[in-house]
Amino acid sequence: METIVELKDVTKVIKGRTIIDHISFQVNKGEVFGFLGPNGAGKTTTIRMIVGLMGLTSGDIIIGGSSIKSEFEQAVGHIGAIVENPEMYKFLTGYQNLVHYARMSKGITKEKIAETVELVGLTERIHDKVKTYSLGMRQRLGLAQCLLHDPDVLILDEPTNGLDPAGIREIRDYVRLLAREKNMAVIVSSHMLSEMEMMCDRIGIIQNGQLIDVQLVHDFVQSSEVTFEFEVLPSDKALALIEAHYPNVRAIRSRNGISVELTKEDIPNLVKLFVDDNISVFGIKEVAKTLEDRFLEVTSEKEGSTRG
Ligand SMILES: Nc1ncnc2c1ncn2[C@@H]1O[C@H](COP(=O)(O)OP(=O)(O)OP(=O)(O)O)[C@@H](O)[C@H]1O
Ligand SMILES: [Mg+2]
Repeated sequence: METIVELKDVTKVIKGRTIIDHISFQVNKGEVFGFLGPNGAGKTTTIRMIVGLMGLTSGDIIIGGSSIKSEFEQAVGHIGAIVENPEMYKFLTGYQNLVHYARMSKGITKEKIAETVELVGLTERIHDKVKTYSLGMRQRLGLAQCLLHDPDVLILDEPTNGLDPAGIREIRDYVRLLAREKNMAVIVSSHMLSEMEMMCDRIGIIQNGQLIDVQLVHDFVQSSEVTFEFEVLPSDKALALIEAHYPNVRAIRSRNGISVELTKEDIPNLVKLFVDDNISVFGIKEVAKTLEDRFLEVTSEKEGSTRG
């Protein structure tokens, strides 16, 4: 895997307040990296520094081998980004907007514009005025704008804000397509866990300006023990049996029986134990941990440790 963006110990202090606190991470070509955190965590500030809209107090950002400090133009030349609302002229057509925008970069051909319009699915409406576009269509036009110069890195700050489920799905599909087929690195921010889970390969969690965890989405969800719901009767007898035979296993009473944290391999033994003791087993169900559960675990662990 080839690293295309690297943040090295990036810190931002504004008026004596540390907004971004020694953040380091790397993003590879072909991957979707999610920047996840609550309101005010520092997502937009970090993104503004990556795209060159804001200077760094200390540290450095390397994009495509160039330092944003010493080789600003080369570094930001690799980037296409939507930060805040993309600038558009509502009384011009989508196409006119793209032509206008294309004048700002060298070598963008008519063919390239047509190809990009096709990619974001705006071909049918591209000659309509932007004021007649829905929010989702404006979003797609914004995406087309930042794809015109074939960036290696696409950065979208909260791209799904305000979109309906269909619009969110569209953005998600484009993002995945660009990463897979164009080998682009995509950085997206969000405070919505469920969305990140579906869109990203890796997720970095930011809280109070600190990057507190970076994990593969898959591992992130898997790395905690799995909970199984056992629908059993009588449940207090089952609970007592677990306590006696598996003192280290966490088990609690749940709505339909008991809920137990264990690995899949333990299930047959447990079932045998129940059956041998005349406990009726009606069903066993794995309770999938969502990113949200894991997120709350990680952030509360962190709070616990900092409060000490
Ligand atoms: N120019 C600035 N001057 C002073 N403080 C700022 C400035 N820009 C951002 N901040 C502060 O930095 C912190 C992080 O803000 P930022 O906008 O990066 O958060 P965010 O994670 O993008 O939040 P949201 O989810 O609400 O968009 C906030 O406390 C904010 O008030
Ligand atoms: Mg923000």
